[in-house]
Amino acid sequence: MRSLALLLSCAAVLAAGCSKEPEPAPVAATPKPAAAAPVDHDEHSYAEPQKVAIDDLALDIAVDFDAKTIGGTATYTLDWKDKAATRLVLDTRDLTIAKVEGEANGAWAPLQYALAPKDAVLGSKLTIETPARNAKVRVTYTSSPEASGLQWLTPEMTEGKQLPFMFSQSQQIHARSWVPLQDTPQVRYTYSAHVTSRPDVMVLMSADNDPAAARDGDYTFKMPQKIPSYLMAIAAGDLVFKPISARSGVWAEPAMVDKATKEFEDTEKMIAATEQLYGPYRWDRYDMLVLPPSFPYGGMENPRLSFITPTVIVGDKTLVSLIAHELAHSWSGNLVTFSSAKHGWLNEGFTSYVENRIVEALYGKETSSMEYSIARNSLKKEIGTMPEATQSLAVKPGTTLDADDALSAVSYDKGAWFLQFLEERFGRQEFDAFLRGYFDHFAFQSITTEQFLDYAKKNLFDKHPNLVTDAEIQAWVYGTGIPANAPQVQSRGFSNTDTARIAWQGSGQLPNPQLTGGWVTQQWVHFLEGMGEKLTVEQLKQLDDAYHFTGTANGEIAMRWYPLTIRSGYVEARPEIARFIERVGRRKLIMPIYEELVKTPEGLALAKESFARARPGYHPITTGSVEALLAKASAAP
Ligand code: BES
Ligand code: ZN
Repeated sequence: MRSLALLLSCAAVLAAGCSKEPEPAPVAATPKPAAAAPVDHDEHSYAEPQKVAIDDLALDIAVDFDAKTIGGTATYTLDWKDKAATRLVLDTRDLTIAKVEGEANGAWAPLQYALAPKDAVLGSKLTIETPARNAKVRVTYTSSPEASGLQWLTPEMTEGKQLPFMFSQSQQIHARSWVPLQDTPQVRYTYSAHVTSRPDVMVLMSADNDPAAARDGDYTFKMPQKIPSYLMAIAAGDLVFKPISARSGVWAEPAMVDKATKEFEDTEKMIAATEQLYGPYRWDRYDMLVLPPSFPYGGMENPRLSFITPTVIVGDKTLVSLIAHELAHSWSGNLVTFSSAKHGWLNEGFTSYVENRIVEALYGKETSSMEYSIARNSLKKEIGTMPEATQSLAVKPGTTLDADDALSAVSYDKGAWFLQFLEERFGRQEFDAFLRGYFDHFAFQSITTEQFLDYAKKNLFDKHPNLVTDAEIQAWVYGTGIPANAPQVQSRGFSNTDTARIAWQGSGQLPNPQLTGGWVTQQWVHFLEGMGEKLTVEQLKQLDDAYHFTGTANGEIAMRWYPLTIRSGYVEARPEIARFIERVGRRKLIMPIYEELVKTPEGLALAKESFARARPGYHPITTGSVEALLAKASAAP
């Protein structure tokens, strides 16, 4: 699926230069320091940040639930880097532009502008003529009800069924569907917002949310730290707050908030553990917003307010590594940011590594090893099927084209694996100090893989010569597959899960309930992942009678159990499969089920029926993924 998307968008995006882009010469692991700051081209944006960059954004917008629009004004304070530049180019998608004005000597006057026809991937380039290089420019606009970065839920689709709900998902290139912006991580800006809405909903943003704010339909926000556009976020609904600590808490619908706060009660400990490792948390508050189950991701690291799927709230805290992950982005990603999606591993690989360190600090080595093991098993399975060009950490220009699929297991898990490799070579103490220095050095900057390598050469590799070779670094960063010298993880919990599975598959004798009674989610996941292609219907029935997998509330189990039942022809699971994929919209959990279903005609029919019912409640990103899969399966002979 990913490779299809890649091909399709390759055709779509790069009339601008997909196949024409010359293959870059292999980049040395230790490039010579460049005279000027290196320029990284972001192929997902029309912006020209070398000429002019947004320094501050002031929004004055209204959230309209009836029209399903966000509209108002966006006022930019601009930094004209090129004193001869005469235009400001912004990214937009499906926005209606009513007016563009520039400020000169305290007065606003109209500016000429052109909105280009829509490109399927990038949206519409908005070119504003600014012969006077105005210090401020203001755009009056409205978003479309179909904005790719927003989901509008009717009251029936919420937990409480009383009030509507709306939330954004801006990463990777959807911010432009609700604010005209230089939608590239190369530009960082502060922002403020005045937001109005119907008075009975609470509005939150990726900014200084006040836990005690009155719900009155009139809200103001400030984000005093410079952020990239993909971290712009907004949500509105029947949201209440419950604290975890003085600087952390949970926003959720009233029916969810107690359960969520209990599940995430270790958050303050996670913040403290990360500060211990990598220096102070720099964003003031760290709150979490629990979204409806249609949220297409597990989590999104919106600054000061991570957006979280409710599917990790399983009652026993076994899936809270997701919180560790989104929190970790406060250092790797939000503080030090990739300069374009080609360098995605600088965000997700570093974050997966830091996540694992947080999990180890709070829950011990055994838990962190199980998590690494699960991630690496699926990376090993996936990487072999990926085109070579996408198997390296740093992706060549012109390769990563579908922004919604840009970050694969390679950026996350090969990235984390590389950092664990460096940790082992240099020793934990030295490596921790190095990373801490890295976060400080590049704080509030957006950087490339080469800037990281240059920094690592000076501050790690050259300081301790002979601990890694250039060739090893090259292989990890620019090579395909997994290097042979990758460190291995051991887990006692998994060897006992393996033993139990093998014994059962040999003898039909299920493990002692005393043993399985203590298993955590990760062990059940590992138990199921080792089952092979298929089981007999009798075997599946035996498992189901003992462990009640069908109908499980745990999505990590569901996403492994249901495909196994589909492959094995265990039709008893079908009604629950339908219920699951119609209720949950998190792509990671439901795509493996759809992918298995579409392999047979009956399965494809079931997938289509469920999708038809689920579609009104799915997020545009999930709808796009399922639609592409169904179209491909229906077209296949
Ligand atoms: N920043 C990502 C989500 C994302 C990545 C959105 C790329 C759009 C494009 C977020 O931090 C993330 O990685 N979420 C994971 C959770 C995780 C524990 C690996 C997810 O949603 O599954
Ligand atoms: Zn992430």
